[in-house]
Amino acid sequence: MASRKGRERASNEGTALKKGYDPFSSRRLGVLISGRGSNLQSIIDAIATGRLDATLAVVVSNRAEAQGLQRARDAGIETRVLRGRDYADRDTYDAALADLLLAVPVDLVCLAGFMRLVGPAMLTAFPEHILNIHPSLLPAFPGLEAQRQALEHGVRVSGATVHFVTAELDGGPIVLQAQVPVRDDDTVDTLSARILVEEHRIYPEAIQLLLDGGWSIEGRRFVRYRSR
Ligand code: GRF
Repeated sequence: MASRKGRERASNEGTALKKGYDPFSSRRLGVLISGRGSNLQSIIDAIATGRLDATLAVVVSNRAEAQGLQRARDAGIETRVLRGRDYADRDTYDAALADLLLAVPVDLVCLAGFMRLVGPAMLTAFPEHILNIHPSLLPAFPGLEAQRQALEHGVRVSGATVHFVTAELDGGPIVLQAQVPVRDDDTVDTLSARILVEEHRIYPEAIQLLLDGGWSIEGRRFVRYRSR
């Protein structure tokens, strides 16, 4: 079950989007990872250099061996491991994850290569407070191996997308995107590497944009009504 605070958040659904209300006042982030953690590193670096005005409160991984956990430890950030196999099912896992993040607490949850679907308990605890980074220009190529999908499809332009997480896989409102040209001789590795450069640029920028407020969600669209 989500904690009481989580339920209060859930009952506030929508208020985060009203003008003048600042749902991110403490600017505390929770980053969820499963592996390498290079996007996590870009967030750590952006905070360290002042490009991102936030506190990275906790890094959570579903894999104890995730390389990103060491990056977090090196930066002095609290880490937690929640392994899927320690929970009876996905809903129980999600409820435990939500309780952990609410207890820390965090204002905004950033998925950074977190290889699990986020379910109802998380979406209820953090309504419109979960971001993800995806290595394609959504809505093209959602799901796994987006770079391979792009190459197989023969697109000339791909890229990266930061979007809100909703119940629809890689289908939430788009916050920021960056284009990356696809070359004739690209492999999955070369294309992934060039997309990653853009991921590292736009993820901290998108987080800063959200924390600063002045936006709303209208239907599927993320709309900025105040320029920074
Ligand atoms: C990135 O390509 C991201 O877009 C996708 O998973 C990958 C994670 O890489 N969701 P890293 O762990 O951040 O290095």
